[in-house]
Amino acid sequence: MEASTALSRIGLAGLAVMGQNLALNIADHGFPISVYNRTSSKVDETVHRAEQEGHLPLTGHYTPRDFVLSIQRPRSIIILVKAGAPVDQTISTLAQFLSPGDAIIDGGNEWYENTERRIRETTERGILYLGMGVSGGEDGARHGPSLMPGGSFDAYKNVEDVLQKVAAQVKDDGPCVTYIGEGGSGNFVKMVHNGIEYGDMQLISEAYDVLKIVGGLSNSELAEIFDSWNRSELESFLIEITADIFKVKDEFGDGELVDKILDKTGMKGTGKWTVQQAAELSIAAPTIAASLDCRYLSGLKEERENASRVFKEAGIAEVLAGRAIDKKRLVDDVKQALYASKICSYAQGMNLLRAKSDEKGWNLNLGELARIWKGGCIIRAVFLDRIKKAYERNRGLANLVVDPDFAKEMVQRQAAWRRVVGMAIEAGISTPGMCASLAYFDTYRRARLPANLVQAQRDLFGAHTYERVDRPGSFHTEWTKLAKEGKAGVGALN
Ligand code: 6PG
Repeated sequence: MEASTALSRIGLAGLAVMGQNLALNIADHGFPISVYNRTSSKVDETVHRAEQEGHLPLTGHYTPRDFVLSIQRPRSIIILVKAGAPVDQTISTLAQFLSPGDAIIDGGNEWYENTERRIRETTERGILYLGMGVSGGEDGARHGPSLMPGGSFDAYKNVEDVLQKVAAQVKDDGPCVTYIGEGGSGNFVKMVHNGIEYGDMQLISEAYDVLKIVGGLSNSELAEIFDSWNRSELESFLIEITADIFKVKDEFGDGELVDKILDKTGMKGTGKWTVQQAAELSIAAPTIAASLDCRYLSGLKEERENASRVFKEAGIAEVLAGRAIDKKRLVDDVKQALYASKICSYAQGMNLLRAKSDEKGWNLNLGELARIWKGGCIIRAVFLDRIKKAYERNRGLANLVVDPDFAKEMVQRQAAWRRVVGMAIEAGISTPGMCASLAYFDTYRRARLPANLVQAQRDLFGAHTYERVDRPGSFHTEWTKLAKEGKAGVGALN
């Protein structure tokens, strides 16, 4: 569309893949949009696409001034540039032309504290600010992402109509967007979404490994199995794309492309932040941590190759050789193990969100977060509806696994889960995500743990004191002395 004098409803700066697609999505819903990018060829490219994709109401601008002045007031400008310094640069470039009451909406995977700093800085100039998690990749941005805006409520209200239209729509559950809360809550929620995404991907890769190595399943069998899982309680975007991955042939030779991919997983940092935050807040997130560790270990390709030579005799799966494997049963067991492990992983993510919400006073609504993750985002899954309902039933639910419905499912699945993990351990196939989830479950469900012994050790060598199960107070015992004298351990009240 040619530049016209009519002002645009909204602006978007930063026209890399995500920005370009989100701008087109907004225009596609009838909201006139101005776009800007420092490299002008990106502006041309986006304008061209807007033409091609149906003469969408999008205008390209080549200077920050023209761009800002082309937007109706109060202005709302989405920026989609690399997190960190580029965001600060973009804000200062645009801010010189903004007026009080205008809003900046950062749609990148930003560290939440950067957003909180920017909120403070922009507030001084009367500018409103939102840090908005955007999930769904390129396709989601173009056709309906899940949006997690946090920060200024007024800024949210100014764009609510646009966001509700461009977000993914879930039948009977509305658009995948909600006002998350104050400060950097939108970025924090997106970060945990990504941590959960890491966990899901790890668990799926372990299911694949067990089925392939223990069950000897071919890629076409795996594709069929994942397709069938995608018609079950495991139905989700990640299961669906996994089925597709197994179907793609290698253009350079025989077999499927998946087998030719180097076994090294990259990462951009949000999973690491999730694990760091879990540690900061004393929240156990072992499944997510295991998925992060696996990415680190995957990077040590040469060392692993060397270690595999050193430990050649230890073998892999040899212990199972000669044992008749009931493939159908294995597939079913792995499915159950995957599902149960997934519940534990989500429980960890949700508890991390709650802990942060308590610390920051964000008042996050976990059921509502599960709702906006039902569509558009990478972890979208049918199963999120169950999570939504669990938190609707009980907003203060201590842990997903004790929700009556999930608890029943855990009980139904635990025998299969243990069989899979047990078999994998015996065969020497690492399943760190499934093991971490199972250990999390087994630790959480025990009324009494061996933590008494650890506490006694702490008291012995560091006089850290301990509590008793049968009387109040804090006690210290001279363990070594009493042990030598063979006397009873009467703890002194501290
Ligand atoms: C999404 C994705 C997206 C991106 C991740 C990948 O929700 O659309 O999470 O944000 O693909 O940042 O993260 P890694 O590069 O760390 O795997």
